[in-house]
Amino acid sequence: MILLLGGTGYIGMAFQTELQRRGQNFLTLSRSEVDYTRFDSLLNFLRAKKTTFVINAAGYTGKPNVDACELDKAGTLLGNALLPQTIAHACAATEIPWGHVSSGCIYSGAKISENGAVHTEKDMTKPAMRLLTEKSPQNILGFTETDTPNFSFRDQPCSFYSGTKALGEEAMAGIGQSYVWRLRIPFDEFDSPRNYLSKVQRYAKVYDNVNSISHRADFVSACLDTWKLRAPFGIYNVTNPGFVTTRHVVEQVEKFLKPARKFEYWASDDEFYQVAAKTPRSNCVMDVSKLLATGVKVRGVEEALEDSLKNWQPENK
Ligand SMILES: NC(=O)c1ccc[n+]([C@@H]2O[C@H](COP(=O)([O-])OP(=O)(O)OC[C@H]3O[C@@H](n4cnc5c(N)ncnc54)[C@H](OP(=O)(O)O)[C@@H]3O)[C@@H](O)[C@H]2O)c1
Repeated sequence: MILLLGGTGYIGMAFQTELQRRGQNFLTLSRSEVDYTRFDSLLNFLRAKKTTFVINAAGYTGKPNVDACELDKAGTLLGNALLPQTIAHACAATEIPWGHVSSGCIYSGAKISENGAVHTEKDMTKPAMRLLTEKSPQNILGFTETDTPNFSFRDQPCSFYSGTKALGEEAMAGIGQSYVWRLRIPFDEFDSPRNYLSKVQRYAKVYDNVNSISHRADFVSACLDTWKLRAPFGIYNVTNPGFVTTRHVVEQVEKFLKPARKFEYWASDDEFYQVAAKTPRSNCVMDVSKLLATGVKVRGVEEALEDSLKNWQPENK
């Protein structure tokens, strides 16, 4: 039996849907039933049930966005750093393998291939980088699982949320057998305040940057496939291969959904941070070759984006 923690959440619900579709025997556990954030409660639960695999889709994201994490640092630390460590110890004690939903937001920027060398560029909004993104996208590479996070407490500035996500990965490292699945900016065809494609349509102004993004159903399917295929335990970036600029996403929204509104962009980083955001935001490109090399199949970002917009299901219908 698979145990799903955080099944009530945005990502947890997608795991539920996919586990049901696959006919898997699974159980979801909410803190309101058993406080799985406590080591003893979780250990007793794992011992009492015949658990073969644990999925941790629980965590503290901050609502409506990561700025909220700055106002509840204890809760953020508890949900994102202590919880994965607690689960790691409980799973190690019961010899149960497990998977943890982490985030790509522990990186900033991309790796740039230029004149035979590769260097990291943290700010992809610089004019030279915008030009490169447009003219030579093949020279923009993603962060791999062996790259040290560069948007974390150890490499600041970062948001408190991102800091705790990187800390969570550190806290569970080397304990038992686990997957770390790094999700990045979830989207799909279901209009929702949590969906990136809905957010883009609702922002007063759009912040143009470069990102890898994860189709929600593709993400959970790829995560479950790592276990199904018995891929080696470890960290995996789980985004749709490739990257998008926000400007391109807006163009696709205009093309497929034909919204009545006109989209405007923040003139600069300064304006964005003065008016719309408090804590620094991560924008980054991820490399998914490690995941694909295991045999897990994930469609490209352009296909997933188009498919979501073609099958768009407005929230109020
Ligand atoms: N959504 C994103 O944009 C995004 C992007 C990258 C990574 N992630 C990661 O994906 C995971 C799931 O995110 P989500 O968007 O599905 O979050 P969510 O909708 O807020 O759901 C998270 C669930 O976690 C459980 N939980 C356990 N401890 C918690 C705590 N201290 N504070 C709040 N909730 C807690 C809650 O379930 P019960 O109370 O029912 O147990 C809650 O329903 C998180 O680890 C997040 O960091 C999310």
